[in-house]
Amino acid sequence: IQEESLRPSSLKEYIGQKDLKGVLDIAIQAAKVRQESLDHLLLYGPPGLGKTTMSLILASEMGVNCKITAAPALERPRDIVGILMALQPGDILFIDEIHRLPRMTEEILYPAMEDFRLDITVGKGNTAKIRSIPLPKFTLVGATTKVGSLTSPLRDRFGLVQKLRFYEVDELTLIVQRTADILQTVVTEEGAAEIARRSRGTPRIANRLLKRVRDYAQVKAHTEIDGAIASAAMEIYNVDPLGLDWVDRLLLTTMAEQFNGGPVGLEALAASTGEDSHTIEEVYEPYLLQIGYLHRTPRGRVVTAAARKHLGLKGGNDNSEQL
Ligand code: ADE
Repeated sequence: IQEESLRPSSLKEYIGQKDLKGVLDIAIQAAKVRQESLDHLLLYGPPGLGKTTMSLILASEMGVNCKITAAPALERPRDIVGILMALQPGDILFIDEIHRLPRMTEEILYPAMEDFRLDITVGKGNTAKIRSIPLPKFTLVGATTKVGSLTSPLRDRFGLVQKLRFYEVDELTLIVQRTADILQTVVTEEGAAEIARRSRGTPRIANRLLKRVRDYAQVKAHTEIDGAIASAAMEIYNVDPLGLDWVDRLLLTTMAEQFNGGPVGLEALAASTGEDSHTIEEVYEPYLLQIGYLHRTPRGRVVTAAARKHLGLKGGNDNSEQL
């Protein structure tokens, strides 16, 4: 069973993100009554929280198609032109990592979003002319982990701008139970809760951990997944009781030991750990910030006393207090 079939396909099935669901439910109903397409929607927040899933749900609730793409696939202007010309009325176009769009592509999107019009330059120099081609009314759903990196003309063209939050443990427990049902795996409430607690507030991680625990239970235990089996499995996969993995711990330990707790710049941390700076910033940091293990200051990142305590690291002041 693939990742795809684990995704909920309606708003009703979607667990968590109550505020977002409330806003979208109203937008969907209003658009349906008026027989219009949905307003353009910008979804932002850390990876794995369900931005793509939500876009697919919107399409299914509106009874339209959803074309999925990502900024790195839209390097040349003709990439976006081809996609826009192939849209049907009401269709949803999902662009992931929309903060990385090349400028030319972004400029094609402005009139497309605002007036459903494609402006193409024909010819060169003094004789160049702009030809306008009408487009069907469509909905752009943009997704980004870095809403601050969007240019304001692009951000201003979204009628709805919504944030996805980290999930609560009880929500993730329900998600694990739902996925276990689909995978035809038996998991006790305590087993599901143990996986949920170690999922860093992220359904994608919860579903990934469930699959690994299921492997372990099948090979080592031959029984249902309970709390003890889930804990034992995650010890093997190096996921600690708070869900921190090897990279999380490497980042915190490096800051504490090589940089005296910080402040340390992102690039210096990336160089010392061998991790990609974008990945640190967009994938690892958000959860460490959320649980108060890392603070960001104008002079760089600092590791907190809570993080030192969790990792069993001695000494060092909590530098965040001094800044
Ligand atoms: N699977 C992944 N995310 C989910 C969610 N938010 N609700 C239900 N199932 C999910």
